[in-house]
Amino acid sequence: MKAAILLLPGDGIGPEVVAAAASILRVVASRYRHQFDLREAPIGGAALRLGLAPLPDETLTAAQNADAVLLGAVGDPEFDRGDSSRRPESALLAIRRELKLYANLRPARVWPGLEASGPLKPDILAGTDMLVVRELTGGLYYGEPRGIAEDGTSAYNTMRYYRHEIERIGRRAFDAARVRKKRVTSVDKANVLETSRLWREVVTALASEFADVALDHMYVDSCAMKVALAPSSFDVILTENMFGDILSDEAGAVVGSLGLLPSASLGDGPGLFEPVHGSAPDIAGKDVANPIGAIGSAAMLLRYALRLETEARAVEQAIEKALLGGARTADLADPAHPRIGTREMAMAIESALLALPPTPVN
Ligand code: IPM
Ligand code: MN
Repeated sequence: MKAAILLLPGDGIGPEVVAAAASILRVVASRYRHQFDLREAPIGGAALRLGLAPLPDETLTAAQNADAVLLGAVGDPEFDRGDSSRRPESALLAIRRELKLYANLRPARVWPGLEASGPLKPDILAGTDMLVVRELTGGLYYGEPRGIAEDGTSAYNTMRYYRHEIERIGRRAFDAARVRKKRVTSVDKANVLETSRLWREVVTALASEFADVALDHMYVDSCAMKVALAPSSFDVILTENMFGDILSDEAGAVVGSLGLLPSASLGDGPGLFEPVHGSAPDIAGKDVANPIGAIGSAAMLLRYALRLETEARAVEQAIEKALLGGARTADLADPAHPRIGTREMAMAIESALLALPPTPVN
């Protein structure tokens, strides 16, 4: 197949991990005889440095015309003091809004060989395989009115959810659960927030269309605790924008490193695929970042944007093999294995991919 993939390396460690993921996509293309047209465009601080807007018009147009977008990270301390529309992060919020990427899928599972890499006891972590389905274009992130009062004595944001927003993200979660363990935990704060009470009502009504999926509800504080105490008890976590932001970082931490987590942001047009970790300016340019989050995002791109399930699985198997073979970046380092860099990790995954038995071309 032919596919146009737009690469948005962005800031910090973004360029290094996107280069690693792009090299994997090139291997997939040659091994499975696809033609991937990989182009790059600036975003975030990288765009600001060129004198452009955080999300330049040309970048947005290129994204709208692509089959899929692979993003590294945005965020640069140099621009932290600007007003919110000139901050690198505003590019991410804008591209999510413009591409209408309302569904953010963030899988977190324990990789074989990494059971002891996280902060939890290996027997508590065993079997952990959850998917956070985060609503991405509503809630506090986008609600109006928002602002800082003129006299500077207060600031405000608005949390509003429409029924249709809850329903469409709910469907994504139930659909995802159907091909997993068929369990959805809907997370809210219905004991305090009206938006959560509506959330609960809409999700409960939706569940009747998915009789084969079990639904339960949990308050977000209790969920945060349970993710740390019993991560393997979850299958799909369905939640609103900000709760999902927080819970997905926690999920990353419990499985060993945020550097492992991939994500897919989906709407009705081209999807955006990015590692969950941020730009990590402190380690940028040092070849120490873990590229697995980005490479896993490339696998999600193959799966969700290009419908290449065989290829997506091959990439995930290659990650697994590289880890089982002892490949460890600094974030995963343990005394038993040497620490390798970003490029070396990408190469270990590449050679694992090339060593997989050849699969028929689809
Ligand atoms: C994420 C990030 C973003 C978010 C920031 C950078 C705007 O933390 O993708 O989780 O809060 O959504
Ligand atoms: Mn986040």
